[in-house]
Amino acid sequence: MTAVLKFKQSIANQLSKHTPCNPKDITTFMRPSKQMKEGHISIAVPKLNASLTDPTPKQDLPAWTQSIADNFEPNEFIEKASAQNTNLFFKFREPEFIKHVLQQVYQDNKSYGWSHIPKPDNDTVLIDYSSPNIAKPFHAGHLRSTIIGNFTRIIHESLGYNVIGINYLGDWGKQYGLLAIGFQKYGDESKLVSDPIHHLYEVYVKINADAKDNDVIYRQANEYFKKMEEGDPTALKQWSRFREMSIKSYASIYDRLNVKFDVYSGESQVNPYISKAHDMLDEKKLLTRTEDGAYAVDLETYKLDKAVIRRADGTSLYMTRDLASVLMRSELYPFQKGIYVVGSEQAGYFKQMFQISKLMMDPSLNLQHIGFGRIKGMSTRKGTVVFLQDILDTAKERILEYMNNDQEKSQMKDRDAIADQLGMSAILIQDMKSKRTKDYEFSWDRMTDAKGDTGVFLQYAHARACGIERKSGTEISPNVDFTILKEKEAMDLVQSIAQFPEIVEAAFASLEPSTLVNYLFKLSHATSVASKFLRVKDMEQDVSKARMLLFWSARITLRNGLYLLGIKPIKQM
Ligand code: ARG
Repeated sequence: MTAVLKFKQSIANQLSKHTPCNPKDITTFMRPSKQMKEGHISIAVPKLNASLTDPTPKQDLPAWTQSIADNFEPNEFIEKASAQNTNLFFKFREPEFIKHVLQQVYQDNKSYGWSHIPKPDNDTVLIDYSSPNIAKPFHAGHLRSTIIGNFTRIIHESLGYNVIGINYLGDWGKQYGLLAIGFQKYGDESKLVSDPIHHLYEVYVKINADAKDNDVIYRQANEYFKKMEEGDPTALKQWSRFREMSIKSYASIYDRLNVKFDVYSGESQVNPYISKAHDMLDEKKLLTRTEDGAYAVDLETYKLDKAVIRRADGTSLYMTRDLASVLMRSELYPFQKGIYVVGSEQAGYFKQMFQISKLMMDPSLNLQHIGFGRIKGMSTRKGTVVFLQDILDTAKERILEYMNNDQEKSQMKDRDAIADQLGMSAILIQDMKSKRTKDYEFSWDRMTDAKGDTGVFLQYAHARACGIERKSGTEISPNVDFTILKEKEAMDLVQSIAQFPEIVEAAFASLEPSTLVNYLFKLSHATSVASKFLRVKDMEQDVSKARMLLFWSARITLRNGLYLLGIKPIKQM
């Protein structure tokens, strides 16, 4: 149980004895108090009253509130209760609260923030994220899917889920046929070998330009794809080479970003399940024949558009392959929940796909789409076309420039690696700081500002906290005199640290990394305020020890938060 909950429960248990309310309801109506002088926790009595079967008349509420406060007996956690109009306030015994919070951080260390959440028993969760297309460029949407998907993965893993992270490559379909035709025309073997992603992109641009006013090329592309679906060995051999090369260069970038997958799968891998999906839909009488001879599933009952699942020429579509992959996944990795981290523009598509999957397999199938908005204006010095690598390189260069202007930093020995880490933190935090469904404007200046709410700022906060530990040389011990931490800045910081477990729960429930990011900004600001007032070095030993434990706990909390976001904290810079 978290420290905050322990304190809340001690209030709730007592109140439930003197009022007709149950402890659980009381706890849900507790809020952190905005009037710290009155107390740490407040309860709006009208809200509590409204939950009762026999509520107190409105005009009697102030008197009732006062009597609850008067009857409250201080206990080992709570110093006093007071009433103001229809609000109740409860004041913690501060040293006791500080002790509970900091000792919990000390005890939990690497799992502080989620250790209190009960472990699910053997819950397998599939997470489909990143999933770029081999025949098309990696775009901002794939970057966001990679970042948000990685967070989704880490938070599930931390909470004890058995996670299977799947990179479902767009490595099949008509688009791929077009690329192959392009390669026949513009392909260059040596360029392909030295830099597959850039070369395939070059081919992609050229063939798309050609195809724009030339239907013949599209027809050739379709025919090529048809050949692939029919198992033509030459076509498949080339396709498999492109695929492997692309995976290899993606993998090195994922590595740099510290993003991991359990499986590189893709649209090409589900073929054996396509006819199975078709048969299951047929058996359940879900297929209708369209005028031009294609097969579709009518979803009118669900207020969704009809979905084509097989073209007239017999080839499969994105939808068909996703349905087949649900079958394949439930066979290979029986799962309780399947999460798809894909841009919100595919929301309608996923509604159809999930509905058909349920009809086809099982109405209780648990599939979830985690959508996100667009990034606007993402460009690098090389131009507006973006390759992930260029984005990472540009971020790093920017940080290096900034470091070169700083005497001390220009001498650092790990400059390069630190700049790379900082650059990635900047990109990741910018991406996760607003609600994920919102679009945002990509800005190099804003994201690398060390003083604004950025990834660079969070890394500085972490490094500075490590600096306090290094410079003071004070040991970290959980047994300190907690009455020493009596300043307002200390208590503010403790409260911020204490809030972390609730934040983790909320971020998990909504799979909303911004909840966590905004909390970490607040925590870091509280740390920076406290560190201005509370010196650790050269103080009396008891004072140093107590303050050191406080700053260390703040740093551990920040580190754990960064960890959930997929960011490696920097110790010194
Ligand atoms: N490759 C797709 C795209 O770029 C995303 C795939 C998402 N995953 C899925 N199972 N449909 O739009």
